[in-house]
Amino acid sequence: MVVRERATEVDLTVELCGMTLNTPLVPASGTLAKEALGEAEGVYGAILPKTTTPRARAGNPPPRVAETPAGMVNSIGLQNPGVERFMEDLDAFDLGVPIFVSVAGETVRDFADLCERVAGDDRVAAIELNLSCPNVEHGGLTFCAGPAAVEEVVGACRAAAPTKPLFAKLTHEGVVGNARAAEGAGADALTVMNTIPALTIDAKKRSILVRGGLSGPAVKPVALKAVYDVARTVEVPILGGGGVTSGVDVAEFMLAGATVVQVGTASFVRDPAEILAEFSDYLREAGTAAANLTGALE
Ligand SMILES: Cc1cc2nc3c(=O)[nH]c(=O)nc-3n(C[C@H](O)[C@H](O)[C@H](O)COP(=O)(O)O)c2cc1C
Repeated sequence: MVVRERATEVDLTVELCGMTLNTPLVPASGTLAKEALGEAEGVYGAILPKTTTPRARAGNPPPRVAETPAGMVNSIGLQNPGVERFMEDLDAFDLGVPIFVSVAGETVRDFADLCERVAGDDRVAAIELNLSCPNVEHGGLTFCAGPAAVEEVVGACRAAAPTKPLFAKLTHEGVVGNARAAEGAGADALTVMNTIPALTIDAKKRSILVRGGLSGPAVKPVALKAVYDVARTVEVPILGGGGVTSGVDVAEFMLAGATVVQVGTASFVRDPAEILAEFSDYLREAGTAAANLTGALE
């Protein structure tokens, strides 16, 4: 495929937590369907499937998505078959690149148990903690509602999976304090950022259409600022993302301080191979390698 050939002429490799990734692109959790894995081959430096939970979840009733100007609001509700079925099917995600596994629970104990379970499997290269879900023991506030909550859950996961690279995925709200707390509790990297809480309304029916998370190009400037601020605060690497749609967007996130860049909503409308090819064009024009871009703002 022409775009993939273009992508191989420049040095796209990056280092993340002791791993060498062939490209800095990683799918954002929940946006890469198993059926689309064919398109993903050779494009992503690692694979990151949808978040898994202790037990199977049916997800939320429809409507689950609404289009918005330059974005979408989704409320999928972490639909997944539960960790045991997920692990049985993990080989389906083996494209010869590292597999990162995203986990979420309703309690700190859930998170720690999930980490222990998936860390025990050699096929799992790293664990991403989806901290945007509600903590039922704290009145439904999310696990990244504040530094104390972040510290508690990341610390428990660190203890449960002492040697597996651990990424804490944060939202933009309070991101600097939360990033500091996650790093202090032992996170090896930070994913910045998840969707932004949002709401769409059907005015005719006078009802809420979708209450969920906003993603897509509309969130990109917010995500860039979050990555930039966090990069100036912590030492650990950042997996940046939020609204990445083009190769230049990838470069912008790396310049802001990301080592790896996650592609989510854009993969519903574009072949991610094109995004990688555009990023390669950017590098060629700039006469540099991907690894040199992180934080290289002038
Ligand atoms: C349909 C959909 C499903 C998602 N599912 C998850 C998920 O299971 N776990 C998670 O951590 N993030 C999930 N996200 C958030 C994305 O991983 C990503 O952080 C967010 O969409 C921002 O990136 P984007 O603008 O490139 O999509 C989901 C996003 C979308 C659009």
